[in-house]
Amino acid sequence: MTQELTSPSPAPQAPGTGRGPGWWRDAVIYQVYVRSFADSDGDGIGDLRGARERLPYLKDLGVDAVWLTPFYASPQADGGYDVADYRAVDPLFGTLQDADDLIRTAHDLGLRVIVDIVPNHTSDRHPWFQDPELSRQRYLFRPGKGESGELPPNDWESVFGGPAWTRTDRGDWYLHLFAPEQPDLNWDNPEVHTEFEAIMRFWLDLGVDGFRVDVAHGMIKAPGLPDIGHGAQAQLIGAQVLPFFDQDGVHAIHRAWRRLLDGYGDAHGRQVIGVAEAWAPTAERLALYVRPDELHQAFNFQFLNAPWQSDALRSVIDASLAATASVGAPTTWVLSNHDVVRHTTRLGGSLARARAAILLMLALPGSAYLYQGEELGLPEVTDLPDEVRQDPAFFRGGRATGAAGPGTDTESAPDGVAAAGGQDGFRDGCRVPLPWSGELPPYGFGPGGSWLPQPADWGGLTVAAQTGDAASTLELYRAALDLRRRLPGLGDGPMTWAPAPDGVLAFTRPGLLCTVNTLGHDVELPAPGTPLLSSAPVTVDDATGRLPGDSCTWWAI
Ligand code: BGC
Repeated sequence: MTQELTSPSPAPQAPGTGRGPGWWRDAVIYQVYVRSFADSDGDGIGDLRGARERLPYLKDLGVDAVWLTPFYASPQADGGYDVADYRAVDPLFGTLQDADDLIRTAHDLGLRVIVDIVPNHTSDRHPWFQDPELSRQRYLFRPGKGESGELPPNDWESVFGGPAWTRTDRGDWYLHLFAPEQPDLNWDNPEVHTEFEAIMRFWLDLGVDGFRVDVAHGMIKAPGLPDIGHGAQAQLIGAQVLPFFDQDGVHAIHRAWRRLLDGYGDAHGRQVIGVAEAWAPTAERLALYVRPDELHQAFNFQFLNAPWQSDALRSVIDASLAATASVGAPTTWVLSNHDVVRHTTRLGGSLARARAAILLMLALPGSAYLYQGEELGLPEVTDLPDEVRQDPAFFRGGRATGAAGPGTDTESAPDGVAAAGGQDGFRDGCRVPLPWSGELPPYGFGPGGSWLPQPADWGGLTVAAQTGDAASTLELYRAALDLRRRLPGLGDGPMTWAPAPDGVLAFTRPGLLCTVNTLGHDVELPAPGTPLLSSAPVTVDDATGRLPGDSCTWWAI
């Protein structure tokens, strides 16, 4: 299945190479969910050529890097997170040559490229799983319980709903923490390690600057695969260490990958990174994934899950900074991704809060992840008809989010967060293709339609409609990213809390003071300086600043 390149590509030299202060420490990284970003061939599904054509837009937006979700050969049982060939591009998305072209174009524009790697499971169409002999060694097969083995080997549930085990024709069972089409690999088998290291080298040779490691907390299971012993497992994911998530054994794998990444980077004069998608119960346990000899970054889902309340935000920020500082890693920040309800909707359906939240996030020290379309203020689409749904969790009645932690499903959500406002918590509503231009669907997404229907009222939200409109969310993102680049030390420098009235956060960063009014009404305070950028019109009268409700302001000090 692996495709050959027509012209093999030497790894491009990205700017800022070698060891030394890492580019990732303060990078703003934009997530491209490939099938929903831009479609070049009119089949209604976004592809690599479409993404490549839109790279100048991302350069102009002001991000530093792009993370591409899986575009590998896959039956698409879980949006490509079921990989059948890790070295091939799925024809839906293009060819290996298209991937090579995209990486080159990105580097020419000064953008780095991160790709997904999916090591916890493969597709059930992967040649290893298809081979009766190999599959027994490289996946987790077990005999069933009960008189004739008719019961699953233990009580684990799939994240997507139902048992985490499926019985084969031969009568034994295989483990799948996600869909049955995604069998879990056996990481006790050294051949699995060797293969994933080879896959990483393959993409590094093609020039990628790093990997987002899918389910980085999942590869190692507790010895003996013990029962959990009580129901409601979905509520436990991310809330505590489980026999299948956040086992200490995963860290040996990350240490080996760090050696590979550093060794490769040193040999090629590049800085290549690993980013953990790990749902750990506490900031301290998450920090273990970014110890100096492990991965470079981990997504900070505790920030994503925080409610829009000043005390809660402050304590998440403090806990995140303290935990990563203890291991010398940069903190990351994220508000939206392809697995959760878009934050405009999640934060109470309030664009004002979403605009304030992003200015807060971009003022914090560390690296920030943006999800495509948030710069347009896109809401979650909440009225998708059942017949267009594709999220496997929708069909299996499982959790809203792939490997999500607590607080992202309706039942366990703190007030004002989580699935609030989402259709039913499933993941298609945040994956609706982007509106680029025009008044009608598909809004310039491509020459055909779009694989999920776009709302009829998105004409005012397109990139074209917002460009040049100073009041638009797109221009707010552009201005914030521009200032972030121009204020030295804003990314990776110090941060100090400043006094503020109840419901308001205030902190200083190199070159600015940031205020966030989380209340629904105006608040007055002594103006701390001159407004540089604000998510809503701020006024200063006789040295008194009036912060609109649900707003964030950057002040020059
Ligand atoms: C990805 C999800 C995916 C799951 C299984 C998650 O972490 O972000 O989209 O369904 O892993 O691969």
